[in-house]
Amino acid sequence: MSVESYRMPGSVSSFSIPSSEQLPAVEIEPAALEAFDIVGFNSRDIRSRPFNLLRTQVLKAMREKKWRLLGVTSATPEAGKSFLCANLAVAMAQLPDVRVCLFDLDLRRGSLAEKFAITGDHGLTQFLDGTIDDLHNVGRYFSNLHLSLFPCYSSRINSAELLAGDRFTKLVEAMRALPDDVIVICDLPPTFANDDAMTIIQQLDAYMFVIEEGMTTKTELRDAMSLLSPAPCLGTVLNRYSASPLDAYGAYGKYGHYYGQ
Ligand SMILES: Nc1ncnc2c1ncn2[C@@H]1O[C@H](COP(=O)(O)OP(=O)(O)O)[C@@H](O)[C@H]1O
Ligand SMILES: [Mg+2]
Repeated sequence: MSVESYRMPGSVSSFSIPSSEQLPAVEIEPAALEAFDIVGFNSRDIRSRPFNLLRTQVLKAMREKKWRLLGVTSATPEAGKSFLCANLAVAMAQLPDVRVCLFDLDLRRGSLAEKFAITGDHGLTQFLDGTIDDLHNVGRYFSNLHLSLFPCYSSRINSAELLAGDRFTKLVEAMRALPDDVIVICDLPPTFANDDAMTIIQQLDAYMFVIEEGMTTKTELRDAMSLLSPAPCLGTVLNRYSASPLDAYGAYGKYGHYYGQ
């Protein structure tokens, strides 16, 4: 059996998140987004309503607490984390007084590049493992959506080591150094998959938890929140819920509950 040795990536000295003007600009066809269930940018589409409601609630709560770095997790895979992150990010990015940076930190199962139809040689993983020292060729600015996306391309990697390293700390510091009107949304792995969600969430301001209707159990929710404690939970989102007349798309934001505070 061969054991791959882990080589510590070199540290980066001055690192910052590139602004939208410093990123390659792309324009994406709405139809391409809709093929991946991303509709939150189009207020005329009834399916965007739950995301518009959610963006207002999330922004209100974040502004009150002066939070800007938000993670999104769930108990198990396929609950709709990436679906929620993508739709919430594009819905928020339509507002004139908010800029949004969306980071795919599900390093083993990144999916946002595919949803936003982008390809590239390097993603966040290659920054964290020391292959590249900046994010200028990782990020994309979607000029028609007013959104910056920093994807990762899923691979079999030692994500735990990468997230424990100095480069991840630098990445979070750089997120915090972004201007005050920038909201950072981080798509994360499920809490029970490995340590990744826990490690990342401890460094962010708060997290949102996606509950999959009929799938996530009370015990899973309680256990996940206790694992993530003391990080503040901004709220839970019940996904694939179909009982509300407002809810054309089965995603309903349920707020007013602040766990772990
Ligand atoms: N409420 C929903 N309505 C329509 N499609 C959804 C909904 N929630 C999730 N999906 C789809 O289900 C699949 C799994 O969701 P995804 O967000 O990738 O899960 P996760 O990131 O939690 O693993 C994706 O194809 C996504 O577009
Ligand atoms: Mg995902």
